Amino acid sequence: MTNATTRPASDYPPGGDAFRHRHLTGIAQLTPWEISYILDAAEQWVELNRSGAAKHDDRLAGLTIINAFFENSTRTLLSFEIAGKRLGADVVNMHAAQSSVKKGETLIDTAMTLNAMRADAIVIRHSASGAVQLIADKVDCPVLNAGDGRHEHPTQALLDALTIRRRLGKVEGLTIAICGDVLHSRVARSNILALTLLGNEVRVIAPATLTPPAMERMHVATFTDMDEGLKDADVVMMLRLQNERMDGAYLPSAREYHALYGLTPQRLEKAKPDAIVMHPGPMNRGVEIDSSIADDPARSTITEQVEMGVAVRMACLDILTRRQRGVPGWN
Ligand code: NCD
Repeated sequence: MTNATTRPASDYPPGGDAFRHRHLTGIAQLTPWEISYILDAAEQWVELNRSGAAKHDDRLAGLTIINAFFENSTRTLLSFEIAGKRLGADVVNMHAAQSSVKKGETLIDTAMTLNAMRADAIVIRHSASGAVQLIADKVDCPVLNAGDGRHEHPTQALLDALTIRRRLGKVEGLTIAICGDVLHSRVARSNILALTLLGNEVRVIAPATLTPPAMERMHVATFTDMDEGLKDADVVMMLRLQNERMDGAYLPSAREYHALYGLTPQRLEKAKPDAIVMHPGPMNRGVEIDSSIADDPARSTITEQVEMGVAVRMACLDILTRRQRGVPGWN
């Protein structure tokens, strides 16, 4: 399946040269064309999922994928599970609450245990930044980062890029405002990396206490005033206040936060008239975003982001397992 934004296969290096990584630990390791390669591959899965024919492709049959989630998740865990199953893999979920992690097992010992089970791919979410790379260095199969601390969440940035590309017809030359708790957000970090790499102007709008230092080194302009930062934006990406990662008082109250940084219809008027509004979920209605915007299908892309999440994760699982499946040209 192709659409206006999908490049022909001949635009990419042949076979495994199109995507040379063994793992997907972050966007920081990728080139712009590797990102496009994944987005283009995901397009066919969007169509197949919509047609209801997804179970007819079982290219991952015989493979075992372990989802090792040391942190809570709804969307990411479910969509990785659905993505693997749609392609015929056996998918096993490990929840930290029921695992030996609670008994004090070290991360390395857990990694060695997962490795000994001879998984064909491991998907990991962990509260510590860098934990996924640590495990990737110890195991024999591809590792996919499903979010590590405040570091990276690469498949979220990929599904967001695909959503933007499908809604606005391109994901370059746009003005994109990322608003809210940027400091604690791996979603923001991966999106800043991906969207600047693809040639967009990225802005961060946040209270000073929730703005990461040295944003200019990531080629991002920072704003503390919503109305100013939203001016003429094509995309408005809202973030949740990640209280579980805060180790003190960053804000006076949720009420005050909403008054200054909540996305209301009046504030959204500062953006372009056809600007889209994104949120990775889970959202706190009435805090960072008003329900009237979140539920407006003309503006909000929230359910589409969830749909793109399955397609992007199907593409990532397919691409990363091509070497062990012996796909011609991938050795
Ligand atoms: C995000 C996460 O876990 O980083 N959610 C997600 O993956 N869809 C954002 C969040 O928790 O606020």
